[in-house]
Amino acid sequence: MSESHSVEGHLKLNVADYDKLIRQLVPGYAAMRAAHMELLKKFLPTDRRVTVLDLGGGTGALAEAVAETLPLADVEIWDIDRAMLGVARERCARFGDRVRYVEQSFTNPLTPCDAIVACIALHHVKDLTVKAAIYKNVFAALKPDGIFANADVAIAADGKLRDFSYQQWVDAMGTHGIDEPQANAHIASWAHEDYYPPLFTELELVAKAGFAAPEVFWRQLPDAIFGGVK
Ligand SMILES: C[S@@+](CC[C@H](N)C(=O)[O-])C[C@H]1O[C@@H](n2cnc3c(N)ncnc32)[C@H](O)[C@@H]1O
Repeated sequence: MSESHSVEGHLKLNVADYDKLIRQLVPGYAAMRAAHMELLKKFLPTDRRVTVLDLGGGTGALAEAVAETLPLADVEIWDIDRAMLGVARERCARFGDRVRYVEQSFTNPLTPCDAIVACIALHHVKDLTVKAAIYKNVFAALKPDGIFANADVAIAADGKLRDFSYQQWVDAMGTHGIDEPQANAHIASWAHEDYYPPLFTELELVAKAGFAAPEVFWRQLPDAIFGGVK
């Protein structure tokens, strides 16, 4: 995984248009956000301040939702892309110092916290040994009872289920006016930077990181929110 990775280049977008386009390109992006917030609202304590890390937080859409949904949450957005963090800074300005911007790789050791979330960011890690190390850092950073909830694409390694998942993705883009050849071209163009491991593989890595009971919190092919509680 390249540390110089840039979403601007990766998605060939202007960062200002990113939020709009991500909803067209990623099936269930909005549904994942709602499910993520529902989970955190039910799970995190409401009688004390909590710290939530957003790994690969990009333009701050997830961090904004967390700060809005959980008034007692402070959020740290970790991202290596300065331009994305700049957009996040503007978007989340109204939360003042409740939102912090950490220009660092999510492969580094993480700040102690109550929850760690990510949305379509960790698929940039193609090497599973690196992903395993990230999940170990996640486990180490979480306080007891802390929750890890990663929203991402997870696709079967092969066979009909793999084809079905990709077809769901292509069909979802179709609802935004992106025809099938264009949709397939998008997916193919991301393939050199992205890897969407099967959910079972992800859960094994989560277990190996130390989580006693890896969990799928939400699933709608090809997306999932998964992780565990420390
Ligand atoms: C597809 S965007 C997702 C942004 C945001 N989470 C969302 O839901 O819209 C992926 C983000 O991961 C960031 N990223 C990629 N590799 C990273 C790394 N090693 N450390 C931190 N951030 C990284 C990119 O800069 C980008 O902002």
